[in-house]
Amino acid sequence: MTDPPLPVIAIDGPAGAGKSTTAREVARRMGLCWVDTGAMYRAVTLWFLRHGIEPVSGEPVREALGGISVDLVPEGEALRVLLCGEDVTERIRQADVNRAVSRVARLPQVRDALVRWQRRLAARGGVVMEGRDIGTVVCPLAPVKVFLYAELTTRASRRALELAARGDVVDGESVRRDLAMRDTADSTRDIAPLVPAEDAVSLDTSNLTIEDQVEAVIRIARAKGYGPAGGASD
Ligand code: DC
Repeated sequence: MTDPPLPVIAIDGPAGAGKSTTAREVARRMGLCWVDTGAMYRAVTLWFLRHGIEPVSGEPVREALGGISVDLVPEGEALRVLLCGEDVTERIRQADVNRAVSRVARLPQVRDALVRWQRRLAARGGVVMEGRDIGTVVCPLAPVKVFLYAELTTRASRRALELAARGDVVDGESVRRDLAMRDTADSTRDIAPLVPAEDAVSLDTSNLTIEDQVEAVIRIARAKGYGPAGGASD
């Protein structure tokens, strides 16, 4: 008897909709790997900032991408992000990366390279992959697709709480402005804009707890035949 296929669970949505917390917990409960593709775009952005690479298509970007490696390494509940072997997990959440990431993420060369890396990670299944274009571009055949969204005000206050919990000094208005700018940039770019896949289940998380969101995603996976052990259920 062959093993049942391992699922690819695609979770897309705007910043602050609860993707990471939900993806991490769904992966833990279902025995799957969590892949945070936003962290990959952030790591590439940090490299560009450090090396003074302008976010415009051309030879410097192509050359940089050829020399960068980004690895996601599970560590307990967390995911460490390694940029050419250096742990940049915390560094990529800082304001300079927040401000620059959308401009880097819209470059076709960057998207081509990252989509290739991400497809390699998804190839064997057994992943919960979160981002903006997982269900539409990276894994259009993923059997389970969820689009999480929430009102801007809700997302901004969640993000502000997260930052405060980390000990950062938080200006609520600038958190909101930053999210709104990234929403616009991510949703209106030419390539792989943030839109729900036609076959995604959309979930408004404005009034949901994380537990509600996790259960909802697991229910959607079960309805497609995937049980908590990671394989298809009977
Ligand atoms: O999920 P996040 O906020 O860490 O993502 C950072 C940025 O990366 C976000 O502004 C858009 C971009 N991104 C993307 O374009 N495609 C993805 N699959 C994931 C993130």
